[in-house]
Amino acid sequence: MSATNAHIANARLNYNKGQLLENTINANPYQQFDAWLHQAITEQVQEPYAMHLGTVNDEGYPSVRVVLLREIIMNEGLVFFTNYASNKGKAIDHNTKVSVNFFWEPMERQVRAQGLVEKLSPQKSDAYFNSRPHESKIGAIVSKQSQIIASRELLDENYNKALVEYANATPARPQHWGGYLIKLNQIEFWQGRSSRMHDRINYTLNKNNEWNIIRLQP
Ligand SMILES: Cc1cc2nc3c(=O)[nH]c(=O)nc-3n(C[C@H](O)[C@H](O)[C@H](O)COP(=O)(O)O)c2cc1C
Repeated sequence: MSATNAHIANARLNYNKGQLLENTINANPYQQFDAWLHQAITEQVQEPYAMHLGTVNDEGYPSVRVVLLREIIMNEGLVFFTNYASNKGKAIDHNTKVSVNFFWEPMERQVRAQGLVEKLSPQKSDAYFNSRPHESKIGAIVSKQSQIIASRELLDENYNKALVEYANATPARPQHWGGYLIKLNQIEFWQGRSSRMHDRINYTLNKNNEWNIIRLQP
């Protein structure tokens, strides 16, 4: 017996904070995304850069986790950083098709996109790594992300050892850590509307590298 089922089944919000119409959107989806993200920041959405990243592994299973969007490169793609040897890194080695999703709840907005992912240049990854706080650099060096570890104590021990090792040194970016660029080929903007009659505007990149814009039913 679930204590929350009754609540879940009966929860019904009506969305009425905005609308998304063809005559107000930007013809360039990167500009449109930038504008929406900027509004999410000014409206103080918590973690507006939290991006749900979906990958597909070599068994065909999709897997979703949150990573932080770190840069929008106009007309090129979205950037995030991670461990290249992690589960998501291995999935990307196998299949470069990924999807992402943002949900900005206070604005009743969702953005979902798909694209092909590639590694950022080592120079760009170095530049970002070097901008991180010392402790985060150590964390990236020490954590074999997605691998099993025997205990929390061992993890802390590894971290503390590295802190001592790098006490008087600036850590360089480890080879196993860096950035990815998601080159978008489709992106959909969703604005909640009343009575479930939401707005969905979808941009798809065509063969001539132009964005086609269509409206989808909610
Ligand atoms: C708010 C938030 C931000 C996160 N940001 C990142 C990130 O930028 N990079 C990253 O590798 N993991 C990030 N994580 C952790 C991932 O969700 C995930 O646990 C980790 O990357 C391992 O995923 P994997 O085993 O599928 O590779 C974040 C988690 C949360 C909740």
